[in-house]
Amino acid sequence: MKAAIFREVGQPLEIENISISKPGPREVLVRTAAAGVCHSDLHFIEGLYPAQTPMVLGHESAGIVEQVGSDVTYVKPGDHVITCLSVFCGHCEQCLTGHMSLCSSAEVRRDQDEEPRLAQEGTLVNQFANLSSFAEQMLIHEHALVKIREDMPLDRAALLGCAVTTGVGSVFHTAAVEPGSTVAVIGCGGVGLSCINGAAIAGAGRIIAIDMVDSKLAMAKEFGATDIVNGSNGDAVQQVIELTGGGVQYSFEAIGLKQTAEDAFNMLRAGGAATIIGMIPVGTKIELMGAAFLQERKIQGSFMGSNRFRIDMPRFIDFYLQGKLHLDQMISKRIQLEQINEAFADMKTGALARSVIVFD
Ligand SMILES: NC(=O)c1ccc[n+]([C@@H]2O[C@H](COP(=O)([O-])OP(=O)(O)OC[C@H]3O[C@@H](n4cnc5c(N)ncnc54)[C@H](O)[C@@H]3O)[C@@H](O)[C@H]2O)c1
Ligand SMILES: [Zn+2]
Ligand SMILES: [Zn+2]
Repeated sequence: MKAAIFREVGQPLEIENISISKPGPREVLVRTAAAGVCHSDLHFIEGLYPAQTPMVLGHESAGIVEQVGSDVTYVKPGDHVITCLSVFCGHCEQCLTGHMSLCSSAEVRRDQDEEPRLAQEGTLVNQFANLSSFAEQMLIHEHALVKIREDMPLDRAALLGCAVTTGVGSVFHTAAVEPGSTVAVIGCGGVGLSCINGAAIAGAGRIIAIDMVDSKLAMAKEFGATDIVNGSNGDAVQQVIELTGGGVQYSFEAIGLKQTAEDAFNMLRAGGAATIIGMIPVGTKIELMGAAFLQERKIQGSFMGSNRFRIDMPRFIDFYLQGKLHLDQMISKRIQLEQINEAFADMKTGALARSVIVFD
């Protein structure tokens, strides 16, 4: 099958043929229908996070089940599914305390002495996030997917695989935004726009979108922002404090920078909570004013929106079909796998929301 291979930091991905194994007892072979291009993939290409190469990146996808392992009863060939990198074992401490998105059990992967899921002429090709969506097929654990209704278009379903689950989930689950509250979202890419959309659904009273690209701020309004701040026109923190008369109750950082993570904390009113979603480069430290904790300001991380994706994703599909989640507007470009490097170049400009690879 055709896949985009990541071989070296800073180099373009290469479209090559690789082989994919057959499903083991608890595995499912999925034909990829669509895969979104997320900034997290780019962080690995840029070497800001370590990865073992060669590797097939990609982790935001939807597709159709082709084959299932002998023990799989949850799905059958022909079922439509969304994949999720929050693969859960179902019986570890994290899973059993309701934190399935933090499960790190090794049993959802193949052992090193087993045949690898992906290979090229007998040599291992590493699977990214137990998924590797930049390929025509995926071989994944049965707990890395959710079955969905068949009237949901698969290109838009793919967005739920990461951006939407992360952004909306961070609002609903990690921060638990209350109706009427004030929210600021820094960074209006696929993830930030999903935070804004989630905050609107949650009934936030004021939603301030912050970006440096005007077209993104215009999109943010379509997704539910009540106010916009262009970070290149002076201090964003000061502007948010002025707009809200003292700061927001909830802030979300959806870029992955030291400065904007600090800004997220500094724009809180007393008692507020900053949620850091962006992947801040490994080794980078952020600095906060210690005295600010005395007014009960909080800062926390969010991984994949603290999801329970088999419950969340079908609900998000209903939101989309009811017109509440703006997935049509989130797809800026539909591309072929061969155009993947262009999608990363576009991403670096900040001008697009999401590029989605659509497979024939
Ligand atoms: N925590 C998680 O589970 C999780 C999941 C998915 C993505 N992420 C991370 O979330 C971040 C956002 O991902 P994305 O795919 O939405 O990215 P993206 O590249 O699509 O969007 C980033 C946005 O930030 C804006 N921006 C860049 N620098 C800015 C600055 N200094 N001030 C204001 N705006 C600025 C850009 O214009 C763009 O609109 C990335 O770091 C990604 O790795 C984390
Ligand atoms: Zn992602
Ligand atoms: Zn577990």
